[in-house]
Amino acid sequence: MKTAYLDGVFLPLEEVKISPLDRGFLFGDGVYEVIPVYNAQCFGNAGHLKRLQQSCDGIALKNPLSDDQWQAVFQQMIAANGARQLIYLQLTRGIQTQRGHSFDATQIKPTIFAMSMPFREPNHSGLSAITSIDNRWHDCYIKSINLLPNVLQLRKAHAQDADEAIMLRDGFVTEAAASNVFIVKNDIVQTPPDNPNILPGITKHFILNLARDNNITAKEAAISKQMLADADEIWLSSSSKEIAPVINLNGKAVGLGKPGPLWQTMQHLYQQNTPK
Ligand SMILES: Cc1ncc(COP(=O)(O)O)c(C=O)c1O
Repeated sequence: MKTAYLDGVFLPLEEVKISPLDRGFLFGDGVYEVIPVYNAQCFGNAGHLKRLQQSCDGIALKNPLSDDQWQAVFQQMIAANGARQLIYLQLTRGIQTQRGHSFDATQIKPTIFAMSMPFREPNHSGLSAITSIDNRWHDCYIKSINLLPNVLQLRKAHAQDADEAIMLRDGFVTEAAASNVFIVKNDIVQTPPDNPNILPGITKHFILNLARDNNITAKEAAISKQMLADADEIWLSSSSKEIAPVINLNGKAVGLGKPGPLWQTMQHLYQQNTPK
């Protein structure tokens, strides 16, 4: 039985109980993070904690724990749940006595929750994706627990036997339902720049830095629908997917229809640079 954390207490996940009056449950009023743990070490946790703070600021929620307190929670989760896992953490605005859209931050205490999820070997044999119109709000830089649009985008992809939905806003790629998007064209790696319409992926920035450190040209620049369709390679990135090659887009082969040469190089570098 996995150990979870709720408001200062470690307990079996099955025993965690949350009030239906929690604003996370009623309004999706909360934010989250997913931190990969390799070899008993949190990977990229400084970036995850910084982004958590940005998400909190984005919804006017006071982060109830300091970075050191978060680290202590992570250490306990690692001790209890093992050397390889994904740590999911969630902060909601907390429990109100009555349902109502408005809140008084002085009268409400955030709910702090963390759990451990399995961290399976990512699929590196090649994914398929569809393109889809990005119908989400304009504050996607906030890692909000309001994931219904993402859930429905993914469902649409699965209904078409695809693994992910790459979303387009005004004809340009934003991100995928649960990952950031890269293309490769003529040996240049490219990903959309951070802006409020996308989540600033921790993995995205790790990949950009890793590429540049290894003399691979990598830039943040807008990707049009046509550039996506003409790409030599497409990759998706996230803490759980790492770098995943997309070999089929909207039913058509991407490049040669198999993971491309630059992906192979980056995949090798990624594995070398994570604590395994
Ligand atoms: C919508 C979205 N974009 C991007 C990412 C990638 O973020 P990270 O690399 O920090 O895991 C995720 C991760 O879950 C996501 O849900």
